[in-house]
Amino acid sequence: MEWTLKQRYRTYDSMTQKEQKKLEALVSDSIWRQKYHIQPQYGLLNDPNGFVWYNGRYYLFYQWFPFGAVHGMKHWFQTESFDLVNWENKGVALKPEYGYESHGIYSGSGFVHDQNLYLFYTANKRDDKWNRHAAQCLAIMDIKGEIVKLPEPIIKSQPQGYTEHFRDPKVWKADNKFYMIVGAQRQNSTGCALLYQSSDLKQWTWIGEVKTKERDFGFMWECPDYFELQNHGVLLFSPQGLQPKGDVYQNIYQSGYFIGNPLDTEKGSFEHGDFQELDAGFDFYAPQTTLSPDGRRILVGWMGLPEIEYPTDSEGWAHCLTLPRELSIHEEKVIQKPVVELELLRGEKVEATKILNNESTSFKGIAGDIYELLAEFSASTAKEFGIELRVGANEKTVIKYNSFEKKISFDRTHSGQSFAEEFGSIRKCSFESKTISIRVFVDVSSVEIFVNNGEKVFTGRIFPSKESRGIRFFSHGGRTNVKVVKWVIDEK
Ligand code: FRU
Repeated sequence: MEWTLKQRYRTYDSMTQKEQKKLEALVSDSIWRQKYHIQPQYGLLNDPNGFVWYNGRYYLFYQWFPFGAVHGMKHWFQTESFDLVNWENKGVALKPEYGYESHGIYSGSGFVHDQNLYLFYTANKRDDKWNRHAAQCLAIMDIKGEIVKLPEPIIKSQPQGYTEHFRDPKVWKADNKFYMIVGAQRQNSTGCALLYQSSDLKQWTWIGEVKTKERDFGFMWECPDYFELQNHGVLLFSPQGLQPKGDVYQNIYQSGYFIGNPLDTEKGSFEHGDFQELDAGFDFYAPQTTLSPDGRRILVGWMGLPEIEYPTDSEGWAHCLTLPRELSIHEEKVIQKPVVELELLRGEKVEATKILNNESTSFKGIAGDIYELLAEFSASTAKEFGIELRVGANEKTVIKYNSFEKKISFDRTHSGQSFAEEFGSIRKCSFESKTISIRVFVDVSSVEIFVNNGEKVFTGRIFPSKESRGIRFFSHGGRTNVKVVKWVIDEK
């Protein structure tokens, strides 16, 4: 369907019952609805927003366009959880109301202060000539859950020297002051992040750019996030416009981090190493982190990418969020483990072990389309070994290690309905280890792969047929020991 601007820029309030019924019917026919990921009831979900622990629960909002699977008028949709596993839909939290937010409530963050939840977001406006205007705004939620927007933006426009690509505020506190980082674009069309400071969360002073060593690194940095972990400073962001290089930067846009010394908030200077991608897979963008009440740094990303068509687009819905991951740092790298709470999802357990000798095999009771799987490969003399999942007559999704290349790969060439093929259907990354453990979370239309406890992660959507439920383990050109544990994840 072709969308007119009028159809794309409507708020949720104007949805008629008839439209809603039609969308619901369309979505209910989809065979690719997820079972344990946050997904929109209908319409398009993108970035996670305002992820925070407040008032005894996690709040996690997301960018939502209600009317179909297209990027249009964005709202913040609210979900809540006590355990990061069971999420309750709460409805629209922020919708466009004022002239300066006439074309969407864009991404932002949550910050708890004085028993209230401060929601920082970008107001997006297009003028008559379709020129963009972006302002940073604040809405305050009280303990009862009532949200009141401040009547005016807290930062009316970008500073001189930057374009209107100015969005996605993330706020934190350090040394009794508040800081905000905002994604931006310099007048010369290169991306960067801007740093602001405040003593009351309402009046903000621009400190300057976050001074990194990269002066020409993509054309826009979306969704920046800054945090400190194990005495390191970590700047997460989603740069647009990087060219593919070897195995990296293969997707349309990237997400990753600089790691270094803690940010010098007075000068805005940040000493750091090279950019590293967070996820070596296909569908991962705009992640955001928060702190759990017990001090863990937790990340959630959008399991999707901008400007790509997905197979569910014609079904009235698109995308989901990733599972939450706990971050830690090891040897200047961010390690991402599925949060421990995800063990709550584990149902019936089946185990198997075998020495695979130049063969491909399946195990009794190990099959399915919604599960967690842990496979530990050791003592390998093989050229390659790995797992095939969602196997059907003509379908399979392959995760394997090649010991000549010393690379792990995730291959969705034969996963089912194809999409985004112009960006390739195999992702690889270099990896060396005597034993390789692969932990996979499979939902109806997604795969999240954690290698050796989160040293590498691959995320991807796949769109197989319902019948493709097989799981096989293989070792070619030699032997490999494999030990498998599989847990069913029960439908909610
Ligand atoms: C990233 C992004 C953000 C923006 C939002 C709009 O996916 O483009 O920069 O705030 O999506 O939905």
